[in-house]
Amino acid sequence: MTIIALVWLIAVCGFSTTSAEESSLKAHSLDDGLVRTPPMGWYPWNQFGQEPQNEQLIKEIADALVNSGMHDVGYSFVGPDEGICFSRDSNNELVTNQKRYPSGLRGIGDYIHKKGLKYALYTDAGTLTCSNAMPGTKGYEFEDMKQFAKWRCDYVKIDWCNTDGQDIIKTYTKLHDAQHAAGRPIVHSLCSWGEGEPWKWAASVGHLWRTTGDICGPGRADWELAVTIAFENEKLYKWAGPGYWNDPDMLVVGMDGLSESQNRSLFSLWCMMASPLIAGNDLRNMSASTIQILTNIEAIGVNQDPLGIQGHIVRSAGNVSIWAGKPLYDGSQAVLVFNQQSSPADVRIEWSDIGIDKKDALYVRNLWTHKTSGPHTDGISVPVNANDVVMLRISKTNKFPLPPIIVADSYLVSLRATDTTAQSLSATITISNKGSDDLPLWKVHKELPGWLTVTVSKNGNKQTLTNTISTSGLKKGLYHAIVRADNTEPVSGKPISAVYYDVELEVSGTK
Ligand code: GLA
Repeated sequence: MTIIALVWLIAVCGFSTTSAEESSLKAHSLDDGLVRTPPMGWYPWNQFGQEPQNEQLIKEIADALVNSGMHDVGYSFVGPDEGICFSRDSNNELVTNQKRYPSGLRGIGDYIHKKGLKYALYTDAGTLTCSNAMPGTKGYEFEDMKQFAKWRCDYVKIDWCNTDGQDIIKTYTKLHDAQHAAGRPIVHSLCSWGEGEPWKWAASVGHLWRTTGDICGPGRADWELAVTIAFENEKLYKWAGPGYWNDPDMLVVGMDGLSESQNRSLFSLWCMMASPLIAGNDLRNMSASTIQILTNIEAIGVNQDPLGIQGHIVRSAGNVSIWAGKPLYDGSQAVLVFNQQSSPADVRIEWSDIGIDKKDALYVRNLWTHKTSGPHTDGISVPVNANDVVMLRISKTNKFPLPPIIVADSYLVSLRATDTTAQSLSATITISNKGSDDLPLWKVHKELPGWLTVTVSKNGNKQTLTNTISTSGLKKGLYHAIVRADNTEPVSGKPISAVYYDVELEVSGTK
């Protein structure tokens, strides 16, 4: 085994170095409670490209998200990318491509919501999408955002193709205003591949922004490219925080072209960088090792940490880098050692490398072997295999709690009254916290229509939101409300991601 004589190249950067520009960005980040921790989900592009995106594929993937256990550890957003799912009709309205999506874009959204998942769509800020196969939003920003709201979309990726002559800041600001006017909380994922340096301004108009070009061509991962992208994204670590994220593109974990250790390395890098965990592989067909990597809750706990700090390189020599600068909500720290060499390395992490007093006696948790050792003073030496990582959590105590990881059984309550006589109907949504700290009761926002009341009760790590509907005084028709509930994470007292869900009521009959 090679002993690497690591040379200090980069000093630990404190978070106190925040510039006025960065502070202003933080002050202006959206305060809508959406994606306060990095979004988790799946998008089709990396594996499939445009074909064969259709209703059947999206439904099968939504089923696989649940059946594989991925939903249980927090993955929720799912839907078509540039999958030719809508066109613009002669009235300039967006309409579903019924051939590919026979249930309609609202129908598939309902399917996704009933499974406890969130609905993602794709559009473009220019005249057409990247392959020119679908209309872009240019000139129809307000109408299109209204249609996305009607389809009950929760997340929209907005590409930057065919935008000649458009001002990037004005365009994405208009799209944000349009979404706001449409009245539905929707995560805006900006996709300009780093063009216009969105990290400097986009926190006030969106929730995440691509920092680099595409991570692969459809169907096959490219290890060198994925690593290059990770290192590009790393440099921007000061620009991310709760509700505004640097996005180095969807994951390639589990795709052809990568070994198990490469999959583990990329997943760990994305977790350390608080990057969105949007899987891009075929979830219907995963090896046991891919599932185990994508569902490693201890690594996900680092990614979903409520402080939302993006880790970065604190030391590197040759092809070995140490990533730290990621304090976690319980006072522990995440540390990653990444060995890009084709031979193993023994790497020494000194406590002083990661800003800790060398006399401190610390426990070390390995997040891939799930073993704790210590206490250690001064530092620790770790063997790291070729093209592999060692991912650690370092703490003064030997307890390594998981932050809140919120999973709902459904995001859609549908009720029906068969006539107009006064009736009381009720249905529940159950929200589980897969983390290990207790959460206070969810607080329901007051702005509910008169026909709906929501109460919250708790049983262990599950909380039930009971939705009671009174049809008294209601006429025949369809009624709809969006419920928002907030919680606070245990340490900072700030809200973790708010939970939004739809309640719909049909009052039918003639009486
Ligand atoms: C761009 C994006 C990709 C994907 C394609 C669709 O290249 O970066 O992620 O959405 O468009 O054409």
